[in-house]
Amino acid sequence: MPPFFQPVIDRIAADIATAPGRGRPADYIPALAEADPQRFGMAVAELDGTVYGVGDWQQPFSAQSITKVFTLALVLSLEGETLWEHVGREPSGNPFNSLVQLEYEHGIPRNPFINAGALVVTDRLHRLTGNASGALQEFLRAESSNPLLDFDERVTASETAHGDRNAALAHFIASYGNITTPVPELLHQYFRQCAAEASCADLARAAGFLARHGIRADGSVLLSRSKAKQVNAVMLTCGTYDAAGDFAYRVGLPGKSGVGGGIIAVVPGRCSLCVWSPGLDERGNSVAGVAALDRFTTLTGLSVF
Ligand code: DON
Repeated sequence: MPPFFQPVIDRIAADIATAPGRGRPADYIPALAEADPQRFGMAVAELDGTVYGVGDWQQPFSAQSITKVFTLALVLSLEGETLWEHVGREPSGNPFNSLVQLEYEHGIPRNPFINAGALVVTDRLHRLTGNASGALQEFLRAESSNPLLDFDERVTASETAHGDRNAALAHFIASYGNITTPVPELLHQYFRQCAAEASCADLARAAGFLARHGIRADGSVLLSRSKAKQVNAVMLTCGTYDAAGDFAYRVGLPGKSGVGGGIIAVVPGRCSLCVWSPGLDERGNSVAGVAALDRFTTLTGLSVF
């Protein structure tokens, strides 16, 4: 059978190249501000790991909040349902780094994808494994089949130097007892996690377990079918923060963005995708990335709806 996806993504890349407006790279983490908004890559991984790509699809970039999907999946597989006593699963309707809901919700973050919720998940992964970022790295290397996948310690250092907001979130949650790793150690783990460098090809493959209903690349079970559904559902409702409604409307797939300009998306039972373009909209999602995924579901008719 001739490859179905290659002509589709070639056409999307051509459309994106002529589309006006690319947004601006994140500048609150200085190491990310230098990225060129004209860069664009897209990869689609079939269930067997075969990857189709276009543009800068093999160029590593800063995965940032995309990693929150993988830490959530690891904690769900290790700990199970008790995680949900410590973090909610409702959209926040607020920016990803907002503090406002935490006090009246007694230190239980709204969902695992806003920074507050991700700090709780990373705390739990760190306690379960003794090395949260190491567990993430091992998982990403195995699922992407890229043994060189690594953290960019320059990005870790840059975010550490400008990390007051995440430090405030972590200390505040710790004051409710919902984080127990010492905050400086937890922040180091979290900033390292966010600084994972991976390409569209790597991340499309690494998200494959969500398209395979919880099955890892080697055929073993990471999550039950029901738990894989839960992760996909939380991605759909919370994965792009206060833009999740618009993303669901335009794209119609579970997706997770990062301020490095990447977005992963999942078509359960069919494929997993990653797009990258560093220019962001005001809510922290890649402008060209959302447009490309919008185009993908329009052209292919593949969507969860
Ligand atoms: O903690 C932060 O602010 C960043 N390391 C990650 C934020 C992020 O990627 C939000 N996504 N759009």
